[in-house]
Amino acid sequence: MEPIPVVRFEPPAVRVVDQSLLPAEERWIELRTLEQLEEAIRSLRVRGAPLLGVCGATGVAIAAGVDASDAGIRSAAERVGRVRPTAVELESGARACAEAILGLPEGERAGAAWRFCGEYLARRQEEDRRLAEQGVPVLRPGAVLTHCNTGSLATAGLGTALGVIRLAFARGMVERCYVTETRPLLQGARLTMWELERSGIPAVLLPDTAAAALLASGAVSTVITGADRIARNGDTANKVGTLQLALAAARFGVPFVIAAPRSTFDPACPAGSAIPIEQRESSEVGGWGACRWTVPGAAAFNPAFDVTPADLIAAFVTEQGVIRPPFEVTVPAFLEQSREGAPA
Ligand code: MRU
Repeated sequence: MEPIPVVRFEPPAVRVVDQSLLPAEERWIELRTLEQLEEAIRSLRVRGAPLLGVCGATGVAIAAGVDASDAGIRSAAERVGRVRPTAVELESGARACAEAILGLPEGERAGAAWRFCGEYLARRQEEDRRLAEQGVPVLRPGAVLTHCNTGSLATAGLGTALGVIRLAFARGMVERCYVTETRPLLQGARLTMWELERSGIPAVLLPDTAAAALLASGAVSTVITGADRIARNGDTANKVGTLQLALAAARFGVPFVIAAPRSTFDPACPAGSAIPIEQRESSEVGGWGACRWTVPGAAAFNPAFDVTPADLIAAFVTEQGVIRPPFEVTVPAFLEQSREGAPA
């Protein structure tokens, strides 16, 4: 089982699959400047929490080729880290790359930063494999429901929730995957359906609004999603719509599971109320590109993420083990015992 390639380092540039065009077109784009990378992150050409970590590190590598001074590197890390506020890995990836090179002579920093990016990516890919192994026994056999996109396009590895689903399918434990379309940018309909088709996994697409009815019908054995930031008490930010899935799953007795690596946990964040939630343009809700379906200038409520309270979550699957309730005890214990990038 191999990841779908989505990123290639070609110093002084990085090449990525432009996810905004999928599934109609599979186009690789080259990003050479910090501005180009920032635009690609903002417009979701590259997206997904772990891949945003890779992008954060890459932003520092690109910037180090232009200005390798302490001030230049620190300001690039800060700048790229705040392009999207919710996924903790964007800022932590940028910070980690900056810290790895700041002690070196200026002339060696850009090269070291690109090496860091390669190692960081390889570590993420290895973590995805271990996470998938941990997750398979957590799923109840049958059909799974997932939200947004958590596959290779989101991590550059096997994926988090989708990595678990892939491995469980290969082992005969998953018969089909229900996929919410994930309004308004359709990461489920466009990206997850594309990945599942490539993996040969039977997939059924549903409008976000049909998820509660599907869960009520008894057709789903487990709901599994990824995460963008997990607080110390287990409250979890993920793609908007996750909260309503978790609520409906609780009502109908379906386990709701989060799959995320150690790097998605934010030890500095005490609870979900402290997670910054990205608010996006109203225009994303009222249409798609040139096709508009609401009145001109319609106001919209368009948060990119929501926060699921820990008490709705049955388990966290990480590459370093499975965490079960009571999360206010077990998540801090996990954070103390584990560390980012720890070997298997
Ligand atoms: O806005 P996006 O597409 O970057 O949001 C992505 C998600 O919410 C994913 O579920 C999350 O990043 C986990 S990816 C393994």
